[in-house]
Amino acid sequence: MCGIVGYLGDKQAYPILLRGLKRLEYRGYDSAGIAVLNGDGIEIFKKQGKVVQMETLISDESPKAKLGIGHTRWATHGVPNDVNSHPHYSQSKRIAIIHNGIIENYTSIKEGLLKRGYTFHSDTDTEVLVNLIEDVLINEKVDLAEAVRIALNQVVGAYAIAVIEEGNYDQIVVAKKGSPLVIGLGENEYYIASDATPFIEYTKQVVYLDEEEVAVLSLKNGLEIRTIANQLKTAYVQELALELESIEKGGYDHFMLKEINEQPKSIYDTLRGRLLVDKGTISIGSFVEYEQKFLNADRIIIVACGTSWHAGLVAEYLIEDLARIPVEVEYASEFRYRNPIITERDIVIAVSQSGETADTLSAIQLAKSKGATIFGICNVVGSSIAREAHVGTYTHAGPEIGVASTKAFTAQVTVFTLIALGLARKKGTISEQLFRKLIVELDSMPDKVAQTLKVDAQSKYIASIYKDVPNCLFLGRGINFPVALEGALKLKEISYIHAEGYPAAEMKHGPIALIDEDMPTVVVAIKTEQYEKVVSNIQEIKAREGKIIAIVNEGDSVVSKIADHVIEIPEVDERLSPLLTTIPLQLISYHIAVMRGCHVDQPRNLAKSVTVE
Ligand code: AGP
Repeated sequence: MCGIVGYLGDKQAYPILLRGLKRLEYRGYDSAGIAVLNGDGIEIFKKQGKVVQMETLISDESPKAKLGIGHTRWATHGVPNDVNSHPHYSQSKRIAIIHNGIIENYTSIKEGLLKRGYTFHSDTDTEVLVNLIEDVLINEKVDLAEAVRIALNQVVGAYAIAVIEEGNYDQIVVAKKGSPLVIGLGENEYYIASDATPFIEYTKQVVYLDEEEVAVLSLKNGLEIRTIANQLKTAYVQELALELESIEKGGYDHFMLKEINEQPKSIYDTLRGRLLVDKGTISIGSFVEYEQKFLNADRIIIVACGTSWHAGLVAEYLIEDLARIPVEVEYASEFRYRNPIITERDIVIAVSQSGETADTLSAIQLAKSKGATIFGICNVVGSSIAREAHVGTYTHAGPEIGVASTKAFTAQVTVFTLIALGLARKKGTISEQLFRKLIVELDSMPDKVAQTLKVDAQSKYIASIYKDVPNCLFLGRGINFPVALEGALKLKEISYIHAEGYPAAEMKHGPIALIDEDMPTVVVAIKTEQYEKVVSNIQEIKAREGKIIAIVNEGDSVVSKIADHVIEIPEVDERLSPLLTTIPLQLISYHIAVMRGCHVDQPRNLAKSVTVE
């Protein structure tokens, strides 16, 4: 959570920081702020609300400076208000800091600083950190970089920080642990940010800081990286494969709608080079080295949060059904604290769009320490989870900016389908005929998704009817039960309508009590072995005057007679169906949220990557 950005170079810093903050707003939007360093010292502009609200603080001319830092906040310590916004000055205003993360031991550090005469204006842990740095700076008589390094040795928690100092026009000090930080290397200029989106039009040369590293950016002296234990490191420069268009709305009203519509391409990109239909093979490059481990694994444990957890549930159905390997799917936040039994024969798969989710990251660190093999499925290249895993693969969905995950989910499901089919073939748990049938069908999924997206107008119409309901139920069976969970999550997170997902058959064990004429139920009722049973569930709801929105296969003649609305999607093997059934649910949620006037891409209280526990 929180986005950080910084600039040092020949250009005017303020416009670069401002644009950068707008691109990072998906990470948090409770408040925004910028600090620039010029002849007048460090000037800070900050305000509660979105970046545009902060902009109103700048009258006619934007501040002139060639060095600056900026922050967009998702509040952890202290309510979102002007005072708690970042950047924060130190007591003497000699230094200023921006911070993404949580300083867990800030109370004890604060007590020490209070005794030494420091006063605090905000409720944040960040103001404690900047004063700790100042305290070290003064008492140890060291320079800023050394003060940051020494101070961070006293800190427990997570941080991506950038620190600037009055009069020090050629230096930004940054450090990272548990929160992302990337340095962009331009021509005689440096950028820093939580991800590369603020500076991709300026440079594609980047250095990702590793855990517990402190970097000093200086035009005169270059880039120097040390660990907080004072070990000098060599900067590993990488070339980014990210294009500007991929982070812009491209004519759509919202990133979410753009990303929903990108799914044919993101699925295609995720399959490309891995699914070789002509040769009748599946090849996931990174997999080869660890293939035997997978084949001999006692079980696979999938850890993830939110939508990624739902993709993990789909994977459980796929891997157990096709490859016959036992799978457990765990909320990362629960897994890490319940003293789980993990052995060296376990494979732990971490699924994460951002690759930065704190709970997922900690879960794999725990599993790694117990000897399990860690496989990462991430969307963001170079992210912390991707680097922490022993091996892994990317989803190739491209940048996902809308807070509600859409194309990342279908790309994750695509990767899991490849893994399940690949393992099944190696293990001999699938017939050649079924393998062939499924890979041909998988290859056609980008086209089928494109066809499914045509239900947009119908989804919008249904949204217009149900946009004001207070509650909504989502039902699905088998592999479409996780899709029901995902549909409910989409609706609640962007429209603030209370929604719950259930296995269809579970309805009679409680949720049916909620059914009345005001309670719509969205049911995935495609042709499967359980179809008749789902039809019975629909009848039970209709008997209680509930409204039914059913996702059915083209040409369905049974459900269409009972349901209030049906949305038809192409027929595919049930195992591949989540890639299609999820599309109308995404569209209905999107349109309802728009009609309710909700901020679709930046829903309240949320942030795109959750880098705090
Ligand atoms: C989904 O729409 C979410 N906003 C959220 O649940 C998300 O999936 C979750 O925070 C996990 O994120 P990750 O995939 O980046 O780890």
